Amino acid sequence: MNPIFPSILSTRFFDLEAKLAAFAAGGIDFIHLDVMDGHFVDQISFGPSLVRAVKERFPFAIDAHLMVSNPEKAVPHFLRAGADWISFHAEAAEDAAALLRLIRREGRRAGLVLNPDTPLERLRPFWPDLDYVLLMSVFPGYGGQSFIPATLERVAELRREIDRRGANCLLQVDGGIHPAIAGRLRQAGADLLVVGTALYGAGDIAGRIREFANPPHGSPS
Ligand code: DX5
Ligand code: ZN
Repeated sequence: MNPIFPSILSTRFFDLEAKLAAFAAGGIDFIHLDVMDGHFVDQISFGPSLVRAVKERFPFAIDAHLMVSNPEKAVPHFLRAGADWISFHAEAAEDAAALLRLIRREGRRAGLVLNPDTPLERLRPFWPDLDYVLLMSVFPGYGGQSFIPATLERVAELRREIDRRGANCLLQVDGGIHPAIAGRLRQAGADLLVVGTALYGAGDIAGRIREFANPPHGSPS
């Protein structure tokens, strides 16, 4: 599995097909879909119809990142649309455990998202139900923001906790990721990197994917 998950939030709609074709040619397996409801975050972005449209035309798996105030209402729509992985914010869910189990019962992967200022401790009740944790390295709502450096220590701490528990749980990071920081995130213990602007705007997308997938370790931030 390619550890790079392109975010298409910054897309211009009529460029999307060509960009997706470039991602496929560059060996990408998953597309990260930022779903925003205009309430949990200011923007309104994509719905389940884009999941269907992408899957009809491309071989990608879809990782739906739900930035919505009512994930209990949104998740069933994305399950029906065929999303393969679904994550939602711990800050928004009424009953996160039940929602994680619903996603798994449908044979999909279930993830919980933490904002940069949400303590890792928040994960404690949910470990048995988690396939992946998404640590935000920006506050959700927009692409093109700057990476929050304190995320590196949070990744290392979460990696220690996952290893200590022997949990079968992947660690994904999202927001402001550029080639220079990618190596340090992987070194700190991140498994998967969501990349938006730094990949979407690249002239040579295949080259940029290789750069992210094989970053020089320990590169300065
Ligand atoms: C932000 C989104 C991210 C964003 C990533 O709320 O969750 O997925 O689109 O884009 P960049 O890499 O530009 O921050
Ligand atoms: Zn995202």
